[in-house]
Amino acid sequence: MTRWEGRHVVVGVSGGIACYKSCILVRRLAEAGAQVHVILTEGAAEFVRPLTFEALSGRPVLTSLWTRDAALQHVRLAQAADVIIVAPATAHLIARVAQGLGDDLLTTLLLARIAPVLLAPAMNDEMYANPATRANLATLAGRGFAFVGPEAGALAEGPSDRPGRMSEPETILAHAARLVGSGGPLAGRRVVVTAGPTREGLDPVRVVTNRSSGKMGFRLAEAAWERGAEVTLITGPVSLPAPVGVSVVAVETTAQMEAAVGTALPEADLLIMAAAPADYRPAETAGAKRPRQEGPLTVALEPTDDILRRTAGLRKPGSVIVGFALETGDAVTKGRAKLARKQLDLIVVNDALEPGAAFEVDTNRVVILDREGGERVVPLASKRVVADAILDSVEPRLGR
Ligand code: CTP
Repeated sequence: MTRWEGRHVVVGVSGGIACYKSCILVRRLAEAGAQVHVILTEGAAEFVRPLTFEALSGRPVLTSLWTRDAALQHVRLAQAADVIIVAPATAHLIARVAQGLGDDLLTTLLLARIAPVLLAPAMNDEMYANPATRANLATLAGRGFAFVGPEAGALAEGPSDRPGRMSEPETILAHAARLVGSGGPLAGRRVVVTAGPTREGLDPVRVVTNRSSGKMGFRLAEAAWERGAEVTLITGPVSLPAPVGVSVVAVETTAQMEAAVGTALPEADLLIMAAAPADYRPAETAGAKRPRQEGPLTVALEPTDDILRRTAGLRKPGSVIVGFALETGDAVTKGRAKLARKQLDLIVVNDALEPGAAFEVDTNRVVILDREGGERVVPLASKRVVADAILDSVEPRLGR
């Protein structure tokens, strides 16, 4: 989200019922620090009054070409914008843009723009399937316009299993961030992130696992995708929604995670092992549920394999490998030893005993150590901010 600070974002809104979601989109952008300029078509202003968008964006909303200054202002905006998002983009708006019309403020701005444009189509499913709409979309795709959605689901007329519904604001935001970040050091790079715990069966019902929530790895995958990378997220059992754009490989055991890492690693420019794979598994997994018994139960555990060590030979030459170390006390010294032992480029160290850090919470406080002896402290922050700090440390090492 830090990418939005000070960015000029034009949000064009055309007239469809999905306009209500554009209010949330504008709010999220403003919260993230973007300078948001909202332009409404005549139809959009019938659905949501300009005042709503003015309050959410904190600046005047433009609706007509025919006011003083508007003609100049839209050209200035078209040149200053870092990205233009049109949400919702109705069938009619898409048709006008494909034709190259400039019959209102929004279409004129789109003719004069230099910035990338993201269209979030929203319409009835039949309209979206109509050959006229398909042809207009193909024309715009050929001119470099980017799209997000539409998705299947509830339409104004009722549920549909065919696309038509506008994507959710969070999804649109992630796609817009990727457009802004495109051309950065992660554009076109393949990134593999592991996340979450693994789970080793004692019997078909009971497992040995740990308290990793997967949040740090999921935020890393999301941040890397927004920076333009192709991202594979290999995750143990967690209850988090898949980040936009990322391919997710779900695994259960440490051995399965090792196999998935082994498959992805030869092509990867960057591996970030944020997972907490179980270090031990029951020596025997019972085929049926073990009955409760009188007296204590002793279970023999055997070590699992170390994924980083076992897959070291599969690394692509020049790739960057990042590990994590969760310690309880003396974290930096232990982290440094782990960095060397696991042949890592960077290690992200945190201390489970510190409040606000490590498992299950939304924040983290880490120290990033590199193999040259460098040390960077990232103060307590959201896991997304920590993810961006980690990628900032990684990026200069890629392509060396
Ligand atoms: N890791 C791994 N394979 C495992 C266990 C851990 O690849 N079976 C990775 C983790 O994803 C992390 C790094 O190794 O990036 C360090 O994990 P950690 O659990 O701190 O290290 P261990 O080697 O298990 O050391 P210890 O438990 O003794 O501290």
